[in-house]
Amino acid sequence: MSITNDVQRQTLTDETSTFPTTFLWGAATSSYQIEGATHEDGRGQSTWDVFTATPGKTYHDETGNVAVDHYHRMPQDVELMAHLGIGAYRFSLAWPRILPDGKGSINIRGLDFYDRLVDALLAKNILPVATLYHWDLPIALYNEGGWLNRDTAYAFADYAEVVARQLGDRVSMWITHNEPWCSAYLGYGAGTHAPGMQDMQAAVTVGHHLLLSHGLAVPRLRTHTKAGTQVGIALNFTPVYPADDTPETAQSVERTDTFTNRWFVEPIYKGAYPEHLFEDIGVKPPPVQENDLGVIATPIDFLGVNNYSRMVVRSNPSKPSGVEFVAPVPGASYTEMGWEVYPQAIGSLLTRLHKDYHVPSLLVTENGAAFDDTVGDDGEVSDPRRIEYLREHIRVVGRVLAQGVPVQGYLVWSLLDNYEWAEGYSKRFGIVYVDYATQKRIIKESGHWYAAFIASHKQE
Ligand code: FCB
Repeated sequence: MSITNDVQRQTLTDETSTFPTTFLWGAATSSYQIEGATHEDGRGQSTWDVFTATPGKTYHDETGNVAVDHYHRMPQDVELMAHLGIGAYRFSLAWPRILPDGKGSINIRGLDFYDRLVDALLAKNILPVATLYHWDLPIALYNEGGWLNRDTAYAFADYAEVVARQLGDRVSMWITHNEPWCSAYLGYGAGTHAPGMQDMQAAVTVGHHLLLSHGLAVPRLRTHTKAGTQVGIALNFTPVYPADDTPETAQSVERTDTFTNRWFVEPIYKGAYPEHLFEDIGVKPPPVQENDLGVIATPIDFLGVNNYSRMVVRSNPSKPSGVEFVAPVPGASYTEMGWEVYPQAIGSLLTRLHKDYHVPSLLVTENGAAFDDTVGDDGEVSDPRRIEYLREHIRVVGRVLAQGVPVQGYLVWSLLDNYEWAEGYSKRFGIVYVDYATQKRIIKESGHWYAAFIASHKQE
C-alpha cells in the first residue's frame, strides 16, 4: 500500500468537519533557523551570530550560518509549500538584513528578499504571516545595551515602519514578536539563548522593553498597512498541571503558571503585570514609565499561541524554588525535546485564553514535535509519531472551536527541519526532511498526511 493511500485514509476522521473553510492551515519557520547566508547581500550581524560563534554555547558548536539555505532556495521552498497545499506561511524577517546597524540606513537587498518571498507566496495563493522579531537582534543595538536599553524599543518601532511601508500593501497578517518570554528569560535570565546573560533582574527589564516595543510598533504597522490588516503577537504557553492535590502543590502550580504563562499576556490584555510575579522570582519590578502599560495594552487583532506540551509540578521544599518538575510522568510519551505529548493541553489553553482574557481571535502560530527521523531504504521518511501528534492536537483544536473558542488557524512548527537554536541541528521538527549535507528536501509521511488533510478539508 502506498503512503498516499494510507494517509488519505487517516484523514477521514471526525475533526475535518469542524473547521470552517476559512480556517487557515499552514506552517511556520523563522529567519535565523532557515535562511543561512548570514554574511550575504549586506546583512548585518545579530546576537545569534555572535552567540553561536562562541564555543560551548550550542550543540556541537553548530551555527545558523548555512541553516537550510532558504535564502538561496526560497523559490523552490515556496513551490514545496504550494505542492503541500498550505494556505498560510509564517516566516520572520531578519532585522539585521534590513537594517544592518539596527537603525538608520536601509539595506535594499535585504528588504528585497522578503519582497520576493511575499510575491512568490501570493502568486501561489499562500497567505504571508510576517513576524518582525524571532530573536535575531542586530549586534549594533546589542552593543548599545540591547533590550536592556529602552531605546531599543523605539528602534524596533522604527524598524516595524520600514518593513510595513515596503510590504504593507501585500502582507495582511503581522506578528510583532515571537515568544518574548524566551527572548527575556532564556536570553538574559537563564542564558541558554543569545545573548547568553544570566541575570533575572536584567530579564524582567528586557521583558518590559520587549512589551513596550510591541505596543509602540502596533500603530506604526496599522498606519502603513492596507485596510483589514490584522496585527498580533505570538506568545509561548505551557499549561501547568498538579502532580498531587495538596494545597502546597496548588501554590506551586500557581507560581509556575504566573511565571510561565501570565508574565507577557497580562500586560497586553489587562494592562498590568501579574501580582507577585516579581517578588516570586526574587527581583524588583522593571523600570515602568508613565503610560508604558497603556502603550503595551494597545488593542491587537489576534493572539498567536505557541504550544507544544504541558508541565507537571509538585511542591518540594528541598528545591531552591520550592517547585519540582515531575518527569517522566508514568505512562506518558515524550518527544526528542523531552516534551510530553499531551494534546489536551492545547484545548484547555485556548479555552482559558478566550475566557480569562476575552481574546477575540486566536491563531495557533506554532505546534509540532521533534522526532529522530531518518531516511529509509526506499528514500522515504516515515514519522508516524508526528502524524499522531499533529492529528491529536488538531482534533483537540477542532473540539474547542466547536465549543465556541475563536480559533482562526493552525500553523505547524515547522515546514522544514531546521536549526533548533542551542540544540543545533540535532532536533528535527519539520514535516519536510532536510538532508543537511546536500540540502535535499524530502516530504515526510507527516507532510503527506498534512497535505491530504488540508486537501480533504478544502473539499468539504
Ligand atoms: C519555539 C520557537 C521556535 C522553535 C520551536 C521548537 O519556542 O519559537 O523557533 O524553536 O520552539
